[in-house]
Amino acid sequence: MKNITIIGTGYVGLVAGAGMSEFGNKVICTDIDKNKIDELNSGKIPIYEPGLEEVIKRNFENNRLFFSSDIEESIKKSEVIVIAVGTPQGENGMADMSFVYSVVEAISNNLNNHKTICTKSTVPIGTGQTIINKINDKVKDRKIFDYVSNPEFLREGSAVKDFLWPDRVVIGTESQEAYQVMCDIYRPIYINKNPITHTSVETAEMIKYASNSFLALKISYINEIANLCESLGADIHDVANAMGQDGRISDKFLHPGPGFGGSCFPKDLEALLSISKNNDLTMETVKAASVANKNQKKRMTEKLINLFDNNLKNRKIAVLGLAFKANTDDVRESAAIDMLNVILDHKGIVNAYDPIANDEMYKIINDIEYHNDIYEAVEDVDGIVIMTEWNEFRSLDLKRIKSIMRGNIVLDTRNILSMDQLSELGFVYDNVGRIKK
Ligand code: UDX
Ligand code: UDX
Repeated sequence: MKNITIIGTGYVGLVAGAGMSEFGNKVICTDIDKNKIDELNSGKIPIYEPGLEEVIKRNFENNRLFFSSDIEESIKKSEVIVIAVGTPQGENGMADMSFVYSVVEAISNNLNNHKTICTKSTVPIGTGQTIINKINDKVKDRKIFDYVSNPEFLREGSAVKDFLWPDRVVIGTESQEAYQVMCDIYRPIYINKNPITHTSVETAEMIKYASNSFLALKISYINEIANLCESLGADIHDVANAMGQDGRISDKFLHPGPGFGGSCFPKDLEALLSISKNNDLTMETVKAASVANKNQKKRMTEKLINLFDNNLKNRKIAVLGLAFKANTDDVRESAAIDMLNVILDHKGIVNAYDPIANDEMYKIINDIEYHNDIYEAVEDVDGIVIMTEWNEFRSLDLKRIKSIMRGNIVLDTRNILSMDQLSELGFVYDNVGRIKK
């Protein structure tokens, strides 16, 4: 059992904190945002994440998980300090490290006894050494802390599962003691197989960027293949399926769509590009993944404009799905933002619907109609655009929808609707890389 303080209670901090308390550790989650901490202490979870509430409740009630806005006191009480604050995109694509370094300042001012300091935020390669130097400049006894890079690979929407059953755990540290401390924390996940990689700090930092950028590249690649399929009359689902049967390729992350979004892929690609540039290296593959993704988002808007014969003026369009992917209310960098803006730019009218992300999108775009029911959203519209792969869209009653729409246009950017049904019911439709029926 370890006494752990997590600084930053966002997706990564809150899920990691809940997970580590579930493993039996005593965890204090702290955040600069006092409202967030008050909400958590009153049992309200500030983010939508399946299964998280249950894990938090169980450990909160068993006095293993605590929430505090007193960062200094929390640091003093703990032997392991986890940094999980945001590293949003800064100037020229570089990650903005100001939050991380202000937390490092708070840590170095409160080293009352030995601490293992562990970074979970995604930070540029070399940040670990900078943090060690910053603390060493402040403390007399350099043995009072050890440093660890422990990047997080959780996905929004399945974060609790990804944390409790990770494919791998990466621990970057020069200290054998610190490595042991982290192994003790993660022991519950490896009763029979050990997914832990022990490596250097720099290598651990690189593993995070290399993994995220490769996944993004894979998505951009399948999107471009899908686009070519459309010109050549090939079917992307069969292509992706056969590609994925090759173990060297794997069938994961081969779903074509409107372009990836979220708080990680877009910003991590830009950060890796500027890191390589600062080292006089060009990464054509990473650049391509980013450019292709921007093109893909644009291509979806062009598909809609084509379906409406280049005239969206006063056409009413139901946009179904606003989150950057299913099972999250997060709309950061969502392809739906581009779609909404283009419809509005072309003087179209939007009826928006998402099972849970309406409020988050309203914070960005508030001059459109938001609906809380799909069938209400599609009433009297000229067309429908599917932007997020929510399960409830997969079993849409297309017959009922056809009967309450004014028009018959459908753009399915996630390839989740049945083409047989769409053509039988007389819809004029488009999707991504499929052979139309
Ligand atoms: C964060 C990083 O953004 C991402 O790069 C990394 O991959 C994982 O961790 P996320 O958890 O989604 O992702 O961040 P966010 O939801 O922005 O939460 C960060 C939290 O840190 C916020 O609650 C913020 O209030 C808090 N914070 C920020 C502090 O407590 N102290 C600070 O000084 C700054
Ligand atoms: C990602 C990484 O997967 C995770 O390991 C890391 O810790 C944080 O960043 P996340 O951003 O939550 O996680 O979402 P992810 O499931 O990776 O999806 C990212 C985007 O790619 C979404 O917009 C999704 O719709 C899109 N996507 C994903 C595709 O278009 N096709 C696919 O096959 C997979």
